[in-house]
Amino acid sequence: MANTLTITDNRTGKQYELPIEHDTIRAMELRKIKVKDDDFGMMTYDPAFMNTASCVSKITFIDGDKGILRYRGYPIEQLAEKSSHLEVAYLLMHGDLPTLPQLKEWTATIMGHTAVFDQLKNVLTGFPHDAHPMGMLGSLVAALSTYYPESRKISDPASMKLHVYRLIAKMPTLSAWCFRHRKGLAPVDPENGLSYTGNFLNMLYKSSGQRYTPDPVLERALDILFILHADHEQNCSTSTMRAIGSSQADPYVSMSGALSALNGSLHGGANEQVLLMLKEIGSKDHIPAFIKEVKEGNGEKRLMGFGHRVYKNYDPRAKIIKATADQVFGVTGRNPLLDIALELERIALQDEYFVKRKLYPNVDFYSGIIYQAMGFPTDFFTVLFAIPRAAGWIVQWSEMINDPEQKIARPRQVYLGSDERNYVPMNQRK
Ligand code: SDX
Repeated sequence: MANTLTITDNRTGKQYELPIEHDTIRAMELRKIKVKDDDFGMMTYDPAFMNTASCVSKITFIDGDKGILRYRGYPIEQLAEKSSHLEVAYLLMHGDLPTLPQLKEWTATIMGHTAVFDQLKNVLTGFPHDAHPMGMLGSLVAALSTYYPESRKISDPASMKLHVYRLIAKMPTLSAWCFRHRKGLAPVDPENGLSYTGNFLNMLYKSSGQRYTPDPVLERALDILFILHADHEQNCSTSTMRAIGSSQADPYVSMSGALSALNGSLHGGANEQVLLMLKEIGSKDHIPAFIKEVKEGNGEKRLMGFGHRVYKNYDPRAKIIKATADQVFGVTGRNPLLDIALELERIALQDEYFVKRKLYPNVDFYSGIIYQAMGFPTDFFTVLFAIPRAAGWIVQWSEMINDPEQKIARPRQVYLGSDERNYVPMNQRK
C-alpha cells in the first residue's frame, strides 16, 4: 500500500494523491485542489490549532492518551527522581545528558551569567509595590534586550549561545527582584557558589548581613518542580516564543511575549487560579455544590488545574508533584488545602461530566499547594512556572531558528466579511 492520501474533490470529480509523512500531510499540498485554475486553492481551517503541527521537533515527546512525557527520550519520572534542573536544561539544549566535566562547565557558565545590570533596577522601582510579578517580569525581560542589541543577530551561533546562557541564568535573578520589590526590600545579589535553585531561594529570602541557608528538602522539591516545568512541546507560550522569534525578533523580546502568554489563567496562570478556587471552596463539604456549578456553568466556571489539550489521562507531572508535596509538608507542615484538593480530585474523577471529557489533574493542580506551603504568595506561582520554562522556551526558539523549513509565522484566514463596497459620504449614512 502506498504511503499516500487520495482525495476526490466531488465538486470536480478530480482526484489528488498527497504524500503522507509522519502521519501528516503537508497543508500546502492541498492548494492543488481547485475548482477553477485561478482559484487560490484549498486550505485547512483549524481554530486554536487543535490538529495542526506547526513544526518538527526533537526536544519533548508527549503521548496524551498514555500520560507519557519525555525530554529528549528520557521519561520525566526518571529525570524528576535522578536529575537536576540545570542538568535537564543541558539535556534539552544539547540533546544528551552531560558528562561530569560538561555539567560542571555548563553549571559554571550559567551561574556566571546570573548578575543583571544594576541600571535595570530603575525599571523595577518604577512598578507599584503591589504590581503583579508576571507583569514586572515580562517588562524586565523585554528591557534586557536593550542591554544586548547584538542579540538581534540571530544567525550568529556564538552570540545566540550567549543569550541562551543569559536567559536561563537571569530569570531567577529578575524573578527574585520582583518578589522583593513587592515586600519593599532591595534585591540581593546572586551567589554563584550556590546551586541554581539554592541561589534563587537565597536571592528571595536572604536578610541583609545574615547568611541564608536554604532548607535542603525545600531546595530539592523546588528543583524537582523546575524539572517538571522545563518544557512541554508546542504549548501556547512556546508557540508564542516561536512565532515572535520567527520574525527575527531577539530572544529577549520573544521570551517577554512567551511570558505574556503563560500569564493567561488557562495556561500558566492556572496554578494561581487553583489556589483561589480551593480558597473559594473553603471546605470539603462545599465541594459538591462547586462541582454542580462547574457542570451547569456552560464552561464559564472551570475546575482549575483540571483538563488539558493534549493529556486525556492523568498528567504525569501532577503525579510527581502530588508525591513531592509530602516531602515539603514534612518541613512546612501540611497545607490544609491539600485535603480539599484530594477530595475534589476523588469526586471529579468519578463524575461522568469529567470522565466523559477526559478531564484529569494537570501540572497546575497540586503545584500551587506546595508553593503556598513554601511561603510563596499566590500571584508569584506563575513566576515559578516561568523560571524553569525559560529553558524550554529558549531551546525551542533555538530549534526554530536552526530549522531550514521555518520562516516568518503568518497563518491564513477564511474571510466571511463584506464584499467590495464604495465609501459613503457622511450626509448619506443612515
Ligand atoms: C498548562 O499545553 C500545554 O502543554 C500547557 C501546559 C504546559 O506545560 O505548557 O501543560 C501548562 O497550561 C496546563 C493547563 C492549565 N489550565 C487549567 O488548568 C485551566 C483549566 N483547564 C482548561 O480551561 C482546559 O482544560 C484547557 C485550557 C487546559 C484545555 O482546553 P481545551 O483543550 O481547549 O478544551 P476545551 O476548553 O475545548 O474543553 C473541552 C470540554 C468543554 O466542555 P464541552 O464544551 O465539551 O461541554 O471540557 C470542558 C469544556 O467546558 N472543560 C472543563 C475544563 N476543561 C475543559 N470543564 C471544567 N473544568 C475544566 N478545567
